[in-house]
Amino acid sequence: MIELRNITKIYNKGKPNEVIALKDINMKIKEGKITVLTGPSGCGKTTLLSIIGLILTPTYGDVIYNGENVTKYSDYWKTKFRRENIGFIFQHINLLPGYNALENILLPLYSMDLNPMDYMDRAMELLSRLKVLERAKHKVEQLSGGEQQRIAFVRALIKDPKYILADEPTVFVDEETSHIIHDIMEDLRDRGKTIIISTHDPELIKIADEVYRFTYGRLIT
Ligand SMILES: Nc1ncnc2c1ncn2[C@@H]1O[C@H](COP(=O)(O)OP(=O)(O)OP(=O)(O)O)[C@@H](O)[C@H]1O
Ligand SMILES: [Mg+2]
Repeated sequence: MIELRNITKIYNKGKPNEVIALKDINMKIKEGKITVLTGPSGCGKTTLLSIIGLILTPTYGDVIYNGENVTKYSDYWKTKFRRENIGFIFQHINLLPGYNALENILLPLYSMDLNPMDYMDRAMELLSRLKVLERAKHKVEQLSGGEQQRIAFVRALIKDPKYILADEPTVFVDEETSHIIHDIMEDLRDRGKTIIISTHDPELIKIADEVYRFTYGRLIT
């Protein structure tokens, strides 16, 4: 279980441009389920997902993974934990320009001392399932937004992580691709993965086991 205790995030604290992005959020996220975070633009979904993914540190409060309070751990520990356990799909896709799709998927594996060749079959299978196999050797700049989103999706899943955190994973894709992404999410859940998705997509909300609705930094239901 991932437990969030009294999470508050204040950007630019004490300055005139201070923003209270999250206020006193408490949640218990179950393993092996699909949890959806939803709510209007600016309500704090990306902020919360980044805190759960140990990319961002909360101003106050604790993040507890399976009973272990990881909030105060070092950046080194957090980076290692993230690499080994979390696949993060960013809202702003974040692929490396100048590299092709396949390189974007496989290059991060080098930094984890893994042999990318061992992951080639899985990369091909996911690219094919998402109908972007024929784009594998295309440079990022030559891909459409929806194609880039699918590549980022494969990159996040390549290591078969235990936790999958996806920030609006279907905003740039068409309905058909959206369905493929939903199916993949359900397959991952059936294999025991823990999935947390920020989304407005009603179809994704339908497949969720738990839905949390936010309004401007607060949890409403
Ligand atoms: N780095 C930052 N510095 C200052 N304020 C920020 C920063 N990032 C986000 N905010 C503010 O915090 C609030 C929550 O932002 P966040 O990106 O978490 O919202 P969101 O729910 O993901 O929105 P969207 O649906 O548009 O992606 C917003 O008011 C935003 O302007
Ligand atoms: Mg967002």
